[in-house]
Amino acid sequence: MLAPAMWWRDAVVYQVYPRSFQDSDGDGVGDLRGVAERLEHLAYLGVDALWLSPIYPSPLADFGYDVSDYTDVDPSFGTLSDFDALVASAHRLGLRVLLDFVVCHTSIEHPWFRKHPDRYIWSPVDGPPNNWVAAFGGPAWSRDERSGRWYLHSFYPEQPDLDWRNPEVVDAMQGVVRFWLDRGVDGFRLDAVNLILKDAELRDDPPASGEFPFPRAGESATLDHVYSDNQPDAVEALRAIRAAAGDALLVGEVYLPTSEYGRWLEVLDLVFGFELLFTPWDAGRLRDAIERAAKLERVAWVMSNHDFDRLATRVGPENLRAAAVLLLMLPGAAFVYQGDEIGLVNGPGHEPPFDRAGRDGLRHPMQWDASAKAGFTTGEPWLPLVDPQERNVESQRGDTGSLLELYRHLVALRRKLGEGFRLLDAEPGVVAFERGGQTVAVNTTGERRTVPRGETVLATHAETGLPPHAAVIVRN
Ligand code: GLC
Repeated sequence: MLAPAMWWRDAVVYQVYPRSFQDSDGDGVGDLRGVAERLEHLAYLGVDALWLSPIYPSPLADFGYDVSDYTDVDPSFGTLSDFDALVASAHRLGLRVLLDFVVCHTSIEHPWFRKHPDRYIWSPVDGPPNNWVAAFGGPAWSRDERSGRWYLHSFYPEQPDLDWRNPEVVDAMQGVVRFWLDRGVDGFRLDAVNLILKDAELRDDPPASGEFPFPRAGESATLDHVYSDNQPDAVEALRAIRAAAGDALLVGEVYLPTSEYGRWLEVLDLVFGFELLFTPWDAGRLRDAIERAAKLERVAWVMSNHDFDRLATRVGPENLRAAAVLLLMLPGAAFVYQGDEIGLVNGPGHEPPFDRAGRDGLRHPMQWDASAKAGFTTGEPWLPLVDPQERNVESQRGDTGSLLELYRHLVALRRKLGEGFRLLDAEPGVVAFERGGQTVAVNTTGERRTVPRGETVLATHAETGLPPHAAVIVRN
């Protein structure tokens, strides 16, 4: 591990979706050697770390989020020695490496499911014991044909939930953390960690009393997940992970509103700020989401990932430059999903879909150059390239007007901003805040707005003032 602790406070972390980053062997699927070959791109951007979406052996019911062995690498991605080589190269470049740690469930093909069924959550009756609903819709209980018993799955039926109330699970998972720390990883993104524990009495969730602020699929939205999610004693389970992780970074995917994060931050270093991700590109609402999250000081800003619409598709290509300023100028850590730095849009996905929850379109391969396969593979890509001629790393690199160069510039600039953060009152449609001795103003509208007074440090658009969809940074 690279020293020192707390390196993550202001870090920029780049999310690599390994299947779609770089293929090194022509099978059309990205792999670890491919990631290693492309680390230079991350060093060029100036980011501090990379987070690898799951690389473990997996039957791919949920593209790696169904793990069948926590201490190995899926053969399609390479081997443990490829992983070691990747970590070594990353560290040489000053980049830290985070793994995705899928804590809530395993794959149904994980040997534990047969050899250690007690590590999972089973219904005490012959059928679902309650009304819980899975995240992608449908009942959260399925019958195991072999044993005839019913097991819990918060996601797909191929992902049975682990029972973290069983000390064997805690021990085994602590072992997993130590295994990867010994191989040099610098931290973990804890997947779906708000679901790590459920009500021990398996009580029914009550009907939804209000709107949950984030997307929930199908019947999942009809319930308040009081007993199936966000349990008061979950933090105790996390303490076991913390004990094994020492001061390695733990960033939690806590799929809950900001108001819930305080408790999770007792043990986690960072939690993703999902309110920013789901807030429409509207200054008032963005400001509110930022205000709530910034108070906690350890919310990692994130505007897109492999689960939700790509940033360009969500905010519109015209707002991408301003969105980059917002994401990277807010105080604290920020996460960038691969491809957002070149403005990748949602793609068409695949027919029939690989992902039953409809997320293929957000996972198309990275576009390195303008060739038909975009430098991603020499073979048949597992998902087609979206539009390499329109946007790719090679053509944007060195072009001072490009989105890629803006990202790079912002990553460098954020290191010089200094301490201090204060949201400012601003004209309608503008998010403005002070960072150190600078004022950042982001125009979310299609109309001109007044630029704050001061010497320009950065402007996203060539026109003077604060043009439509633009952002500026001025020195006060
Ligand atoms: C997280 C992952 C998502 C996955 C789910 C179940 O939300 O980001 O991709 O499907 O957990 O593991």
